[in-house]
Amino acid sequence: MEPNTSSDFSVGRKADSLGLSDEELVIAYHERTKHHYQRYAASLGYLDWAKQPDAFRRYDGAPLVSLPLPAQGRELPFWQLYVRDSVVPAPLSVESVSLFLRYSLSLTAWKQFQGTKWSLRANPSSGNLHPTEGYALLPSMDKLHTRAGIYHYAPKAHGLELRADLDPSFWASFPEGSFLVGLSSIFWREAWKYGERAFRYCQLDVGHALASLRYAAAVLGWKVRLLDRVSRAALARLLGLDRDADYVRAEREDPELVALVVRDERRCNRALSLSEELITEVANSQWCGKANVLTPEHGVEWPIIDQVAAATMNPKCLTKEAFSSFPSEAHLFGAPVRAGAFTAEKVILERRSAVSMDASTTIAAATFFRMLARVVPTRDGRAMPWDVLPWRPRIHLGLFVHRVNDVAPGLYMLARDPERVTSLRQSMRPEFLWQRPPSCPQGLPLFLLKEGDCRAVAANVSCGQDIARDGAFSLGMIAEYMDSFVVYGAGFYRNLHWEAGLVGQVLYLEAEEAGIRATGIGCYFDDPVHEVFGISSRDWQSLYHFTVGGPVEDGRLIKMPAYGPGGAR
Ligand SMILES: Cc1cc2nc3c(=O)[nH]c(=O)nc-3n(C[C@H](O)[C@H](O)[C@H](O)COP(=O)(O)O)c2cc1C
Repeated sequence: MEPNTSSDFSVGRKADSLGLSDEELVIAYHERTKHHYQRYAASLGYLDWAKQPDAFRRYDGAPLVSLPLPAQGRELPFWQLYVRDSVVPAPLSVESVSLFLRYSLSLTAWKQFQGTKWSLRANPSSGNLHPTEGYALLPSMDKLHTRAGIYHYAPKAHGLELRADLDPSFWASFPEGSFLVGLSSIFWREAWKYGERAFRYCQLDVGHALASLRYAAAVLGWKVRLLDRVSRAALARLLGLDRDADYVRAEREDPELVALVVRDERRCNRALSLSEELITEVANSQWCGKANVLTPEHGVEWPIIDQVAAATMNPKCLTKEAFSSFPSEAHLFGAPVRAGAFTAEKVILERRSAVSMDASTTIAAATFFRMLARVVPTRDGRAMPWDVLPWRPRIHLGLFVHRVNDVAPGLYMLARDPERVTSLRQSMRPEFLWQRPPSCPQGLPLFLLKEGDCRAVAANVSCGQDIARDGAFSLGMIAEYMDSFVVYGAGFYRNLHWEAGLVGQVLYLEAEEAGIRATGIGCYFDDPVHEVFGISSRDWQSLYHFTVGGPVEDGRLIKMPAYGPGGAR
């Protein structure tokens, strides 16, 4: 397959000594990190356990504020998170910030098998390696600290490490009662196991973490907005990630994103930015703590990861796009969803990946349609969690349907942007049917492409993983790829993965609410999945796979609580 030459990438900044533009470098990175039937992307090829990174970043010497762990969190049903303005916003306090972090980035369980113990978190992560670090920039709150500060979140302690004080004037341009959250990635955590493909997994994990933050905010009646005008260089200074002296021999963190958490949506201005002066003031304040070393000697390094990170530093600023051609909530769901089995807390804290699927559970068509409707933004652009992203969806779902009552098994397409149906259709096999499934809600842009048993092919393209075959359905997330670089620049490579991660997190939680389970699938054969759908141009790329179905629990594992007796703290 030849690279698409129709798009003009010469506009991009020359990225490296080879004279590649940022866009060319990103495309080259993506190509070389594809898994093929006959060759996997470059990695060590085995697990060097002696070099396994410490799962927890800490800043030695930074004062730790332990967050309270209420025995009971917020009592509201999961479905209510989607009902706009139905949750009374919690006041900003140490208790509400504690719950926000508990529901988004905290530990949710420990598991043990034959003397080995490991923790699991509210946000999932490829290989459970957790490259994503969380930060909170908080105004002063009683009990927490007398001064506003920049805090690193320490999940094992469920505490906040004070990295630097913030002058109270910092908050002058932000709505009252709001605060900022930041995410960074430690690429080494994933590269240790996955080699060059690790950058992709880190970005998918950021997407999952961003969705986790959005859902956690929803439980507290808060909103989250990406501040996409803040450059990554500015973000590095804001979070102290550029402070060489604090990372002597320690693995660096790459700045990913900063978002505003706000109680009143009307007070939320996406254009809010952080001026150079403000950031310089922060950078010049007194910082404390030195980052811990996760692996003393790395051995093999993967320099392409730093190169693609550098090439994706500055996406073009995103403006809020129009969603008027999208379905309304009524059209998407048929009837509004106002009932469900579980509380939000239960769904969020008990979410787990299925390690194996039972090859028998069948789900109702209504459940299937509802899950898919949750990944499509509504026409007002305000459906949770999609209100966190300012851009129109660029990830579409190629589905392998196995076991859904009254929905014929086969290949399906969900165009998450209804205006992309035609271009998807033109790029895929001409013999595909593009038929609307019977009883599918009118506004759900779902199409049957081809009827038939696709269990074997689903497993096959997901690196032979049975979970893709034995669930109710699995899918490939197909991105509008080349055009994204033309419109937004090379930096949007990260955003495409974030969007895919968000889709994944919605499916994880929806599966939990439906009493079944899901699993993210980062290991898939890139080009063979394009082949299934007849995609031959590089304008579209599959970025992530997913499976949903009836799980098989591994009864040999001992489960322990996240915190308290038997857990951490
Ligand atoms: C980006 C991503 C890729 C993943 N890829 C796979 C995969 O290929 N196969 C698999 O069995 N699980 C995969 N998982 C599931 C993780 O192994 C799982 O999230 C992790 O072990 C933590 O468990 P939890 O989700 O129950 O918290 C993936 C998860 C994420 C977020």
